[in-house]
Amino acid sequence: MSEPVNASDYLELAAANVDPKVWCYFEGGAGDEVTLRANAAAYGRWRFRPRMLVDVAEITTETTVLGTPVSMPLLVAPFAMHGLLAADGELATARAAADAGTLFCVSTITTRTHAAIAAASGDGPRWLQLYVVQDRQRTLDHIAEARECGYSALVLTVDMPLLGRRERDLKLGFQIPPDLPLPYIRGTDPALAETMAQHFQTSPSLTWRDLEWVAAESELPVVLKGILTAQDGALAAEHGVAGVMVSNHGGRQLDGVAASLDALPEVVEAVGDRCEVYVDGGIRRGGDVLKALALGARAALSGRAVAGGLAVGGEAGVRHVLSLLRDEIELGLGLLGCTSPAEVSRAHVEPVVPYDLPA
Ligand SMILES: Cc1cc2nc3c(=O)[nH]c(=O)nc-3n(C[C@H](O)[C@H](O)[C@H](O)COP(=O)(O)O)c2cc1C
Repeated sequence: MSEPVNASDYLELAAANVDPKVWCYFEGGAGDEVTLRANAAAYGRWRFRPRMLVDVAEITTETTVLGTPVSMPLLVAPFAMHGLLAADGELATARAAADAGTLFCVSTITTRTHAAIAAASGDGPRWLQLYVVQDRQRTLDHIAEARECGYSALVLTVDMPLLGRRERDLKLGFQIPPDLPLPYIRGTDPALAETMAQHFQTSPSLTWRDLEWVAAESELPVVLKGILTAQDGALAAEHGVAGVMVSNHGGRQLDGVAASLDALPEVVEAVGDRCEVYVDGGIRRGGDVLKALALGARAALSGRAVAGGLAVGGEAGVRHVLSLLRDEIELGLGLLGCTSPAEVSRAHVEPVVPYDLPA
């Protein structure tokens, strides 16, 4: 392939070049991967309604999330084990995201410590994605460390009471290397360096009451990640969360749920202006981000596109993927007749209407 010119090119290059026993973990979804495919396809069912003769000489892609300025409405989604794709792992992603002026949401399953990531990020904004594990003290220690290391919000993932069954991993025999550091899963005790299944146990008994516990312990704004229904959106808002992330974990948990873009409008309507709403899943283009904004998201997040950049080019690869997406967002805004993300509204999109070709 010639030089990659979009995020999908990076994913294609990664699929061709990374060991299939490793890339399957990044690429795959759960079960028959119906939801994985639905996520990306959902963007194709909306089309733009651009407005003409609008002065777009000055365009900004900048916005804020929970009051934090970011260069664009596209953030880095939390995904596990960057160290499998590049030697400096999360540090490469942290530097690239900070350089791009956008926010890095760091997974609990990071291969680098929060202190090291904070140093690599500099002033770059960061949120911590939190898994509540069965050993609650471990979760409390993790929250305290995140606060000390300057994370400005906690993203509590709620769609993983049990781990989804990812069949590509089973077929290709994906294994977490025993020497891969996972400081918030295995700890630093070498006796714990066994399998993730043994030591990474999210708490299946987590309920709304625990959300209050997390919020009180963290003293940080809490975003719930993995909300897919109006009912849970309303409950989240009633519990005073700062944000809700409409997500199906990139199709890696319950296969057969709605594409996240399809679930977005009902969650947006249910929460009203009580908290911010974000969406992830299937973002490959700046235009996808603009459709998400039109349907009510404050920002979108990308996992696999960033992973593709990291796998192909390390820090420079992530930087390129983020700059390609930012440029697509800017161009899309201008061609849509908008000068900022805030101007994108429901009037800028409509569902694609199926029609019969004349006989
Ligand atoms: C390889 C991989 C690992 C992931 N690890 C986590 C994780 O540790 N915590 C989490 O909340 N979500 C995790 N996710 C889900 C992402 O945060 C996000 O919801 C998803 O990647 C969005 O879909 P996209 O990859 O199509 O952009 C992971 C996703 C992938 C692809």
